[in-house]
Amino acid sequence: MSLDEIIQSAFQRAYPGVDFSWVRVVPATDAKFGDYQCNDALKYAKMNKLNPRQVGSDVAEQLKDEKVFEKVEVAGPGFLNLTVGSQWLSGRLRELCYSKSCLIPAIGAGKKIVIDYSSPNAAKQMHIGHIRSTVIGCAIDRIFRSLGYEVIADNHLGDWGTQFGILIKGYRECLTDEERENLTVANLEKCYVLSAAKAKEEDGLWKDACRAELVKLQQGDEANTELWKRFIDISIGEFERMYAKLGVKFDTYRGESFYNSMMPGVVEKLLKVGLAKESEGALIVDLAEEKLGVAIVRKSDGGYNYTTSDLACVESRVAEYNPERIIYVTDDRQKLHFRQFFSIAAKTGFADVKLVHVPFGLMSFQGKAISTREGNLIRLDDLLAEAKRRALEIVSNRNAGSIENLADTEKLAEQIGYGAVKYADLSHDPATAIDFDWDKALALEGNSGPYLQYAYARVCSLMDKAEVEESSLTNTFAVAQPSEKRLALQLLEFPNVVVRAAEAYKPSLLADYLFQLAQLYSSFYQNSPILKSEESVKIARLSLCALFARVLGTGLALLGIETPRRI
Ligand code: ARG
Repeated sequence: MSLDEIIQSAFQRAYPGVDFSWVRVVPATDAKFGDYQCNDALKYAKMNKLNPRQVGSDVAEQLKDEKVFEKVEVAGPGFLNLTVGSQWLSGRLRELCYSKSCLIPAIGAGKKIVIDYSSPNAAKQMHIGHIRSTVIGCAIDRIFRSLGYEVIADNHLGDWGTQFGILIKGYRECLTDEERENLTVANLEKCYVLSAAKAKEEDGLWKDACRAELVKLQQGDEANTELWKRFIDISIGEFERMYAKLGVKFDTYRGESFYNSMMPGVVEKLLKVGLAKESEGALIVDLAEEKLGVAIVRKSDGGYNYTTSDLACVESRVAEYNPERIIYVTDDRQKLHFRQFFSIAAKTGFADVKLVHVPFGLMSFQGKAISTREGNLIRLDDLLAEAKRRALEIVSNRNAGSIENLADTEKLAEQIGYGAVKYADLSHDPATAIDFDWDKALALEGNSGPYLQYAYARVCSLMDKAEVEESSLTNTFAVAQPSEKRLALQLLEFPNVVVRAAEAYKPSLLADYLFQLAQLYSSFYQNSPILKSEESVKIARLSLCALFARVLGTGLALLGIETPRRI
């Protein structure tokens, strides 16, 4: 029985016939009050106009013979402070140890969700503005999968729009034969810049030509379609090179273009249900009543836009996957767009699917903004290369003279460097803006990826040194000392934290938890001698170490951070 169930049943015995399935036990806010607490006696008292202290005592009375608890106290206006006994604690640790999933509950079994993340624009190189959507999206993706959800990770590429007219014209006339033959995203970017500059020329000839190319593409012209496809393939190839470095995998790459043919149908539907109306030649949905302004769904030139495309997209996803929810991870400048489009979607018959926008704050780079206008865009590729270079320096310094194999060292530098970049992002609440700082990201002390990776490697090396059979580490766990008990309690929180991180769409909750876990381990390690202890104590302490390694490794994997056994 879980602690929740034990307390629920005590409530039931005190107040028969009432449903107490909502009652929860939570970790104590301060260790001096106990290990856990339950605040729901107050809630129940308030609901029924009872004396909360009395409710607390009534429930405590029912727990008198409960062996799980060493101590049950009613405090203040009716809080229940609970101290668990070591037998229960050890038993729970054993369950955690035997559980393949680290007790992460399969609350998503049989449920499907779509996560729309990363979603860069084609024909442009990814820059560090793309890292947050990719890294946060991937962590949310992994967290939901761990809860048993069937996840469809969809990369909603920006692969359609006026820029393709400019690109096609630029490709034909601004690139050399060689550049055309060995087409790269960098070349595409270059020809875009050249062509867009010419489109600004006064006579307007170039601009008209670009428009003509776009119209041909929109009408399905064979040569232009083929070129467009080539641009997209090259872009995806390049993006996948980044994703491979970051350990990110998509199930589908459905760009905006995929929904093109469905746009007229969307507009027709909006007209039919009376949501859309004409305004100055355009078609709009007025959301003023909800204070969401006006969304244009068809421009005066007949073109569709972002809202229409996302409406078509949601319709298509519901028809194809019937997901219980769709999660969109984008920067917070798109907040209004998503609120508008969610509102329209709900009114046109997609009320069953839960639509969630996870907005993230912008990332600045060592104090500087990274917008295109300011011209200091850092390419993601360069950022990752720099991360690897810096990590290599650290690894080489630490292992001076003992580097056996260059390939291994390179691999290690990638694991540490890329892990540092990811953790620097994930350790912040997605909603906040963050400033990326190399020294902080790569610090070996403090709340950083490398700190956690080192903690993992160190415990692994301790286990190796101990030379005990892993199978002997599954029975008794050291919980007698205060620092052991605190570590044990924190280990048991792991599955709850995973659930909370998913519910809040905040991988940062998991990152915070892992950092605290590593700190508790370090205080345990300082207070409890391990290898020098007498055999049974040694085994019980090593069992705690092994469980710590497993939970830390599993948690970091959910954040997409690798855990080398040796650093
Ligand atoms: N391509 C867009 C951008 O770069 C993000 C797309 C997000 N997904 C969506 N379904 N709107 O900002």
